Amino acid sequence: MVKRAAPSRVPHRLRHEVKGVLLSEAQIAARVRALARQITRDFASREMVVVALLNGTVMFLADLIRHIPLPMRLDFIGVSSYGAGTQSRALEFTKALRLDVRGRDVLLVDDILDTGKTMSAVLAKLRRLNPRRIKVCVLLDKKARRTERVQAHYVGFEIPDEFVVGYGLDFAERYRNLPFIAVLHPAMHAAPNP
Ligand code: IMP
Ligand code: MG
Repeated sequence: MVKRAAPSRVPHRLRHEVKGVLLSEAQIAARVRALARQITRDFASREMVVVALLNGTVMFLADLIRHIPLPMRLDFIGVSSYGAGTQSRALEFTKALRLDVRGRDVLLVDDILDTGKTMSAVLAKLRRLNPRRIKVCVLLDKKARRTERVQAHYVGFEIPDEFVVGYGLDFAERYRNLPFIAVLHPAMHAAPNP
């Protein structure tokens, strides 16, 4: 493998906004490939439908599915649970599923499992469409914050109870483009810039 200068340190321009890098680009890449291999083994027999939640899954999804060499169809559900802050609020569905999942094997992908409210609401919606089975895949799992009885079949990393950004995850819609996952500076929670 090519050894690269992975940014395991916070770039200077972000030093007041993020506290530190939790997961480097290389760590994420290795783990995402391992997840893809596991999913490939489990879903090998039938065409799958991948359902990803917008917007946090953009990077994870793109990296994950390009390492799953199986026939698949892809669709999105838009759901938003955060305003400008870090506290969970009411869920809003912003885009409905268009593919028919009846009788299908579904892989439901999200960026992070936190309280589990988003996932349990989405699972309830999906189950009403009568898929054959639903497997849940999340990049991050913040187990300590769980309030709902929901768990993922495939988890990239279990992380501590800190607000993280990057690799698709946002704070007030910012930082999604960081190639690594970083812990947000606590001062940022207090004064979000709208
Ligand atoms: P839950 O409904 O509380 O499980 O929250 C899940 C959603 O909240 C995720 O899909 C994320 O969009 C968002 N979220 C939860 N924790 C974080 C975090 O640490 N950083 C960024 N987004 C988060
Ligand atoms: Mg999200």
